[in-house]
Amino acid sequence: MGARVRPIRSSETRDGHTVTTTPTAPAQAHVTPGAKRVDEETIRSIPKAEVHVHLEGTFELIDLIELARESGVPLPGPAATLFDLGTHFAPDTTDTIDAGSGVGTGGLSAFLRFLDWQCGLIRTPQQASALAYRFAARQSASGIRYTDVIVNPTHWSAWRGRVGDLLSALAEGFDEAERDGLCVINIAYSLLRTQSQDEATTIARWLVETRPSRVIALSVDGDERVAGRTAEKFAPAFDIARDGGLRRTIHAGESSGAEGVWDAIRHLHAERIDHGVRAIDDDELVAHLAETGIPLDVCLRSNLTLGVYPDLASHPLAELMRRGVTVTVNTDDPAPIGTRLENEWSLAADAYGWGLPQLIALAHASVTASFAPDALAAELHEAIDARALALGV
Ligand code: ADE
Ligand code: ZN
Repeated sequence: MGARVRPIRSSETRDGHTVTTTPTAPAQAHVTPGAKRVDEETIRSIPKAEVHVHLEGTFELIDLIELARESGVPLPGPAATLFDLGTHFAPDTTDTIDAGSGVGTGGLSAFLRFLDWQCGLIRTPQQASALAYRFAARQSASGIRYTDVIVNPTHWSAWRGRVGDLLSALAEGFDEAERDGLCVINIAYSLLRTQSQDEATTIARWLVETRPSRVIALSVDGDERVAGRTAEKFAPAFDIARDGGLRRTIHAGESSGAEGVWDAIRHLHAERIDHGVRAIDDDELVAHLAETGIPLDVCLRSNLTLGVYPDLASHPLAELMRRGVTVTVNTDDPAPIGTRLENEWSLAADAYGWGLPQLIALAHASVTASFAPDALAAELHEAIDARALALGV
């Protein structure tokens, strides 16, 4: 039996939370040359967390067809090619990043418009709860035991002025799923990058005062290229969030450069960076990430599909890890991208020669990076170790 690879973890208190920092990068980065390929079935069997997935990106094609039919809304194109956004959501030309293929041919902004369309199909609390429950079931099928799911209410047009009702309906679906033994899910409430400072501070204050069920964090997403640098604008909202006990995870370094990652750290008290891959262009930032253990929540297929990198050979994931940065591997928007977490982990394992020890380390890193309650996180670390033993790691 080989040596058990377990990241060294140490607990510290940050903003009144006990958080566990993970200097896991050396263990994560260690590659076994010629490691035996780990299949998706084995990956599914490893208990794990997912920390970068948008609820808006989890509508399956069949969900869209059924919801559109229920609401009497015409499809924007042939059902079979609904996820071909280049066809149905043509971009305004100036606001796109370099085109990928399929879902990404319109770039990130066209993709966000597609999310608006599909979230607009959810109009009743029953539909929202059902979507939440089905998401939890799919997470469980991938062996995911805990998820921080990003919800950006600006996409959900039917709920303007009653976002609290949307959050309650989603929480009901997650509650029911948990009662049924499915994946435990908390919500990162996301601001859209183009929202105003006033809107952001009002939302942060409302979240802190009302503490909607299952909302654990404040987040920012959207297209950085279109909105420009927004961290200073959102700083007061994130001060309120931090002081009010909300965790923080920020999209940066996807459609912006490394400066977006610096901004998220300096102005928004980011505990995690969603994507963050453009950090690779700034040596000082890479060293800072390695030193602080702030994880980058990387999504390989999303980056390829949305044209952030043209191919895996040019993707910086392996180099970031080699230089000591903690990473998690996630799906981002699994349904339109056509992926599952086991596919993402398998893609990374095949590309970088990871075997079981690296995937076990990745599972530990996913839990450590997550905002799971301490007791659940401890339980999951134990479960990962038990699974590792059973797999002979
Ligand atoms: N919302 C959903 N997916 C996103 C992405 N990849 N980047 C920014 N915002 C998003
Ligand atoms: Zn994302």
